[in-house]
Amino acid sequence: MSRLGSPTAAPDQITYLDTAAATPVGLDYKRRLVEALDVRTGQTVVDLGCGPGTDLAALADAVGPDGTVFGVDLEPRMVAEASRRHADRPNVEVRAGDVHELPLADASVDRIRVDRVLQHLSDPARVFAEARRALRPGGFFGMAEPDWDTLAVADEDVATSRRFARFTAGRVRNATIGRQLVGLATRAGFRVRSVDPMAVLFRDFDTADQILGLRRNTARAVQAGELAETDGRAWLHRLETGPVLAGFTFYLVTAEA
Ligand SMILES: C[S@@+](CC[C@H](N)C(=O)[O-])C[C@H]1O[C@@H](n2cnc3c(N)ncnc32)[C@H](O)[C@@H]1O
Repeated sequence: MSRLGSPTAAPDQITYLDTAAATPVGLDYKRRLVEALDVRTGQTVVDLGCGPGTDLAALADAVGPDGTVFGVDLEPRMVAEASRRHADRPNVEVRAGDVHELPLADASVDRIRVDRVLQHLSDPARVFAEARRALRPGGFFGMAEPDWDTLAVADEDVATSRRFARFTAGRVRNATIGRQLVGLATRAGFRVRSVDPMAVLFRDFDTADQILGLRRNTARAVQAGELAETDGRAWLHRLETGPVLAGFTFYLVTAEA
């Protein structure tokens, strides 16, 4: 039987983001989003909530030496790390800022991307309005966001899987943002160009645990009284000894200003 212990602290955010970006599905969707954005040389591109700058190098390569890439992030630690990682790229600039109030002039950029940021924000609609304002007419906005209400973990104890999924989704401010992207974009005046729902699947315990917090959220759900400890232990034990199939739907959407 698994040990639950006390709820562990969330993993270091930069380590978490680097780990997620290096998974096959992480590499795949990030490449697909850059392709869908159809970035051209010489363009100005912005990554909203750029984190440690995971995607800035691919964007910098796409715009070339005559283009410009801006990363924007609220967290000083992320701004510092993204700046450090791209110190040798003159066409990359990382700015501290809140994506609810973009530090960008009207109609000044060609492409904007946002990747797993809207799910955390107090006012996603405000960010769509800001993106629409900052994009030149005909500019593209690319979004990649999960729908945590679709989280499913295969196990014989379906009730515990459901409780785990509901608890995990409940910890995200905008858990259903993925399915809302089309509506938010349309209401902000964008024309939606593409909607690409991806099944993000994990087949090994360690990766599923890192990305979905299997152990951590089970322990927290037990502590919160939303899961019986014996059920949580048995459920985790079966997952640790495999096989594992766990995943959720992730939406890639592009829209034109
Ligand atoms: C899940 S991370 C995604 C980072 C990056 N987009 C990636 O794919 O690796 C979310 C990022 O959004 C940033 N963030 C959260 N709220 C923000 C806000 N209001 N304005 C700017 N950045 C914000 C966080 O600091 C964090 O770096």
